[in-house]
Amino acid sequence: MVPLGQPSQQSGLGIPQIDRGYANLGESKLNTPFLQLNQQGRLIDGHKFPLNETPIVKTLHWPDETACAAFAQGLALCPALAQAVVYLHGDLGAGKTTFTRYLLQALGVTDRIKSPTYAVVEPYEVTTGGQVLAIWHFDFYRFNDPREWEDAGFRDIFASRGLKICEWPEKAKGILPASDLDIVLSVNTDSSRDVRLLAHSPLGRDLLA
Ligand SMILES: Nc1ncnc2c1ncn2[C@@H]1O[C@H](COP(=O)(O)OP(=O)(O)O)[C@@H](O)[C@H]1O
Ligand SMILES: [Mg+2]
Repeated sequence: MVPLGQPSQQSGLGIPQIDRGYANLGESKLNTPFLQLNQQGRLIDGHKFPLNETPIVKTLHWPDETACAAFAQGLALCPALAQAVVYLHGDLGAGKTTFTRYLLQALGVTDRIKSPTYAVVEPYEVTTGGQVLAIWHFDFYRFNDPREWEDAGFRDIFASRGLKICEWPEKAKGILPASDLDIVLSVNTDSSRDVRLLAHSPLGRDLLA
């Protein structure tokens, strides 16, 4: 994988590259001109590029937090992250905030990374290789007023470039834009974590590559 901030080694930073080697993509999609995709890799009518009916799924096992940190560090190297929407699922205590902390630290965030449970969103900005990456860490646990979506500027955030990582996306179901990658965490009796990764778009697929 190519580290963020070194786009010269990768054509089209973060823009999904569709190739014939990707078996899950139907022939008709392959013939779709790229001009129909906007900078976010979405169709110009606002919908995700239709990858397939079924997401690409990977499963992992994290024996401890070190394994969580190692995965986060690997993911942080992926250029597609610069415009990804990532949902984090799991019960209270599953490790959503912990994973986000490791990811943001790996991306270069040096500020204290607070859980945004009360603020709903915490913004960050890092500069790597001369490029600015905006990061938005959401926690929708206490989100219960759809008007806040407009009033707090969440619509604008999701329309802008940057990484959006969301805890408790279920609480903003119906408003929240579709994700590129879902990460589902579950805790085992020995405190290890079982992890399911589901990619829902070409961008999400790039994150799992
Ligand atoms: N992969 C992991 N392995 C072991 N313990 C973990 C792991 N991830 C998180 N924890 C621990 O679980 C607790 C709750 O984690 P947290 O990230 O706050 O959960 P959530 O945000 O899902 O509610 C923390 O004390 C953290 O140290
Ligand atoms: Mg949390």
